[in-house]
Amino acid sequence: MQTHLFGFSGSWNEYNMGRRQPVESIKVANKFHRDLPPTPVFSYGTSKRTATIPGPTIEALNQVDTYVTWRNHLPKKHILPWDPTIPTALPANKKGIPTVVHLHGAVGEPQSDGHAESWFTARFKEKGPTWTKKKYHYHNHQQPGNLWYHDHAMGLTRVNILAGLLGAYVIRDPKIEAPLGLPHGDEFDRPLVVFDRGFRTDGSLYMNSTGNNPSIHPQWQPEYFGDAIIVNGKAWPRMIVRRRKYRFRIINASNARFFKFFFTNGLGFIHVGSDSAYHERPVMLKEILLAPSEIADVIVDFSESKSDSVILGNDAPYPYPSGDPVNEANSKVMKFLVKQQHEVDSGRVPEELIKYPSADLSGASETRYIAMYEYTIDIDEPTHLYLNGKSYEKPVTETPKVGTTEVWNVINLTEDNHPLHIHLGLFVVLDQTELVDLDEFKECMMKMNDAIKCQISKYARGKRMSVPAHEKGWKNVYKMTPGFVTKILLRFSYIHSNASYSFDATAEPGYVYHCHFKRAYTSVMIVPTGIGASIG
Ligand code: C2O
Repeated sequence: MQTHLFGFSGSWNEYNMGRRQPVESIKVANKFHRDLPPTPVFSYGTSKRTATIPGPTIEALNQVDTYVTWRNHLPKKHILPWDPTIPTALPANKKGIPTVVHLHGAVGEPQSDGHAESWFTARFKEKGPTWTKKKYHYHNHQQPGNLWYHDHAMGLTRVNILAGLLGAYVIRDPKIEAPLGLPHGDEFDRPLVVFDRGFRTDGSLYMNSTGNNPSIHPQWQPEYFGDAIIVNGKAWPRMIVRRRKYRFRIINASNARFFKFFFTNGLGFIHVGSDSAYHERPVMLKEILLAPSEIADVIVDFSESKSDSVILGNDAPYPYPSGDPVNEANSKVMKFLVKQQHEVDSGRVPEELIKYPSADLSGASETRYIAMYEYTIDIDEPTHLYLNGKSYEKPVTETPKVGTTEVWNVINLTEDNHPLHIHLGLFVVLDQTELVDLDEFKECMMKMNDAIKCQISKYARGKRMSVPAHEKGWKNVYKMTPGFVTKILLRFSYIHSNASYSFDATAEPGYVYHCHFKRAYTSVMIVPTGIGASIG
């Protein structure tokens, strides 16, 4: 049974800035809400005392390497039910919980990318088949921006993240960023790591432990939703703010929940960047739709607030877009209490931010078609999400060359909006086109698995959706609208035109791409060298 608690829960979670290492994954108790007993969670920290949810925010500098030894200090038994009937990292001695960390949004070497099969158990006792090293190397040879790190172990990602294994990672470039004059410093520039969770009355995390079809998969539930909205480790927190500008790097760290954020008093967001890079110019918004793993980098000017308290609300149905409407609990995210006194604001928002090379279609060396569809193998069984009809175990299909640009047409034949994430490659979304006679096309695809043979151009001629201004920049995850083809331009190198790799991106074990619902059974293929992979 889930408890029903509601109410802004007070203290803000202050977390330590990390660059100390190693970082342990560790079992601790977190107080999510004043009316809730402490909750056993898995978290990251340099010790039991410093482990927090989210984990320490890692601050990195452009061009300066970061090294992190991720260690595993988890107990033998998981705090959440996991299902051994789906492809999962399984230590030979069956002891311990496999973990591995992926730095989401990083342009970096494959050995440190957190491949799903590079997992390890406590004290590195057992390791997955693609494990190579303890100390991960992050190059940070990329534009300043917002990343996050999270568990990525095969078949366990969804439960390891639900248990708490996630945190923010910021890359800064003072040379480029300081002249912008945006609000800065720990007080005025903060990550907001947002996710949903359910709780039992004893404080423990609630996850339905009966699978959608228990005779096949006793526990597997492809998507997770909880009613409590957690920001930086607190349920519906309150934050006292001054009448001035703040910068929030909002990360949707939910497994499956989309958020559509808005302020209850009409206050706006000044959107300056998304999950990979700054925009060329700020974009004014009244609401922001954020799929799992998308990031909105925004400035909020509380001097414009017409009231002394304002709630950050959410009205995205779940699953998105055609699920249940929000309720009393999950329609609220956090509350800001705005101090009366006006003050001199040192932060500003310039008209021009940072300019990156724009998408150049003419240089694309390859055009690919990637179809997402759901297979039902047994009646009533939760569906398996496949990419081009292939499961994770299949050989690699995408082998782009380092330094090249490609066009991918992602065809979403499922009913849900899926946030597609591609490791290593940053992309620009060009447009989304609706498919006509969808059932006919789907039928062909189920048989042939080939968009060209199924004459995609005959079907991709419906309504065309343009990309909103604040989503036109370089991204690493985007919402694949159901029944539409989403065309993206993907670049397997830094987005600065003249930069080159300082590492070998063609080494094993390669990289994955996948839907960012931590649902397992997502099939995934890889980039440069060629090893397939998937996460759970
Ligand atoms: Cu954020 Cu492969 O994941």
